Amino acid sequence: MWQFLLLGTSLLVTGGRCQCLSEYTEMFAEAGSQAVLPCMCRPPSTSAAIVLWSKDLKGTVWRKGKSGLEHWGIGAAQRVRCPHSEVGAGDYSLYIKEVREEDSGNYTCMVQDGEKILSKRILLRVIKVSISPPAPVEGNKMTITCSVTPWPRKATVSWMLNEKRVYPDSADYVLSKNQASVLESKASASMMGNWSCVVHKGRKPGKATTALTVRGIVNPSSASAKVYAEVGSAVTLPCVFSTGLTPSDTVWERLDTSGSALPLPPSFNLSSLLSLPPWDRSVGVVQVGQGDGGRYRCSGTVEGRRVTREMQLVTAQGEPGIENG
Ligand SMILES: *[C@@H]1O[C@H](CO)[C@@H](O)[C@H](O)[C@H]1NC(C)=O
Repeated sequence: MWQFLLLGTSLLVTGGRCQCLSEYTEMFAEAGSQAVLPCMCRPPSTSAAIVLWSKDLKGTVWRKGKSGLEHWGIGAAQRVRCPHSEVGAGDYSLYIKEVREEDSGNYTCMVQDGEKILSKRILLRVIKVSISPPAPVEGNKMTITCSVTPWPRKATVSWMLNEKRVYPDSADYVLSKNQASVLESKASASMMGNWSCVVHKGRKPGKATTALTVRGIVNPSSASAKVYAEVGSAVTLPCVFSTGLTPSDTVWERLDTSGSALPLPPSFNLSSLLSLPPWDRSVGVVQVGQGDGGRYRCSGTVEGRRVTREMQLVTAQGEPGIENG
């Protein structure tokens, strides 16, 4: 309370002199991105100010003396810049390239302009999303971890897939661990895309994103695929694994109504597989027969895990009158 009153007074007294706009800020930066820690003095000073950026009340991160000579703290030189700090610019914001977890912490920007010393504190939290294993095989367990360093108290975490809010269903587990929120689930093709974790705390939420690739059958991508064909025409039943995979023991089966496997109809041409890359196990039907409609299943083994996809072949009798219109 007293501090605020004193501060108010000092701002009044300062008048047109250099003022730091805000005294304490918390901010998020995504790991790997560039963080800009704001420290501005308005209006800009006319004299050469002394600027000191320090971290966690100990180490100097960056310093500029009256002579304009710059000095970097140990280890910081590679990724830290204060690019607009020339005399008269009034912008002493600190730029940190390729932010890492160890960059998180309390930063202080101190500007000495004549007799006035103004300081600003910034708490930098680093937010990161990681997936383990990095490219899971469909059906296998995987975890998506959102870590924030330091972890904010009373923050809420939400998840997004391709910019759409995700509400994990009962098969998933969201754990709030020390320093992290963890989403545990079975990998499936429908989970592929950009996963973001959004941490709400204060005015500006923090967000970090990473891409999830699930290895398995990419086409058809869902279990309810339907393939339409006219009797007598050619058709391809797709079964495309992730590019680069060589599934073993691939099998095509026809299923009866109870789900038991039947032999494939004679019109199915498995020899066409030879000309496709090893991850494409699609099967060609040269001439769809009258009774070929029904359920089919393609399966293969990827890294010890059996991956299967079912699809429905829907046949229709050609109606030349309509077709030729
Ligand atoms: C994921 O993000 C990348 C990079 O921002 C973008 O190019 C890509 O289209 C996104 N993918 C989806 C499925 O939205």
